[in-house]
Amino acid sequence: MKRQTVVILTLFAMIIGMAALVAVAHGDMPEVITIDKAQAKKAPVVFPHKAHADVNECTVCHHTAKGKDDAQSCFECHGKDPNAPDPSAMGAKENPFHILCRGCHQEQGKGPTKCNECHKG
Ligand code: HEC
Ligand code: HEC
Ligand code: HEC
Ligand code: HEC
Repeated sequence: MKRQTVVILTLFAMIIGMAALVAVAHGDMPEVITIDKAQAKKAPVVFPHKAHADVNECTVCHHTAKGKDDAQSCFECHGKDPNAPDPSAMGAKENPFHILCRGCHQEQGKGPTKCNECHKG
């Protein structure tokens, strides 16, 4: 009898613990991200994610997301889906990061626009 209670309580605690972990994983918003997936010619780009997320809607960049909890990696599509612009492209017109990141910096007159300001090293 007693042992059964302990087993049930342990299982219960495990379920609560797992639910909490899932919740944390879901709200996990990376602070700084090194974007180096398509890295070939240029140095990886250190991207201050949280600083951008604090002042912009998530969907400005996560343009396919339905909401805050729906953000996924750009590379789920870009680089896989032939309709999505190619992140390994050199030209500012074909690379989605150049279109989005550099585009906004140019438009706002703030943030890096020169190659080696983003591709450091
Ligand atoms: C606002 C930041 C930013 C600026 C400015 C910028 N890039 Fe990029 N670039 C990126 C990001 C982010 C990626 C994606 C990197 C990845 O996927 O690994 C990228 C990818 C690339 C790639 C394809 C991946 C690779 O390393 O081969 C090339 C080539 C590239 N950039 C060249 C340039 C050149 C040349 C300039 C200047 C004319 C430039 N970039 C300016 C952010 C920037
Ligand atoms: C200025 C553009 C921008 C804004 C705004 C932004 N993000 Fe991101 N986010 C990115 C980029 C770029 C990545 C790196 C994607 C990759 O590596 O594929 C990323 C990655 C993520 C990841 C990790 C995805 C994965 O599976 O690797 C999560 C989660 C995320 N963002 C959530 C958010 C949330 C929530 C917000 C709004 C509160 C937000 N982001 C705002 C550009 C942005
Ligand atoms: C679920 C798939 C998917 C995800 C995830 C995704 N994209 Fe896209 N993206 C696409 C497709 C498909 C297109 C082309 C059609 C369109 O414009 O909707 C596109 C278009 C774009 C464009 C417009 C290019 C142009 O010609 O104006 C930019 C910029 C872009 N994506 C950047 C990003 C960034 C940055 C991320 C991650 C923060 C991201 N995308 C995540 C599928 C995706
Ligand atoms: C909607 C506009 C917008 C988009 C999209 C955007 N940025 Fe920025 N970014 C800014 C602004 C504005 C600043 C300048 C912030 C400041 O000086 O306070 C900035 C600053 C930066 C800085 C310099 C940070 C520092 O500490 O000096 C880096 C690096 C950067 N952005 C990279 C990126 C990358 C990579 C992307 C795409 C994944 C991106 N940004 C997308 C608006 C944007």
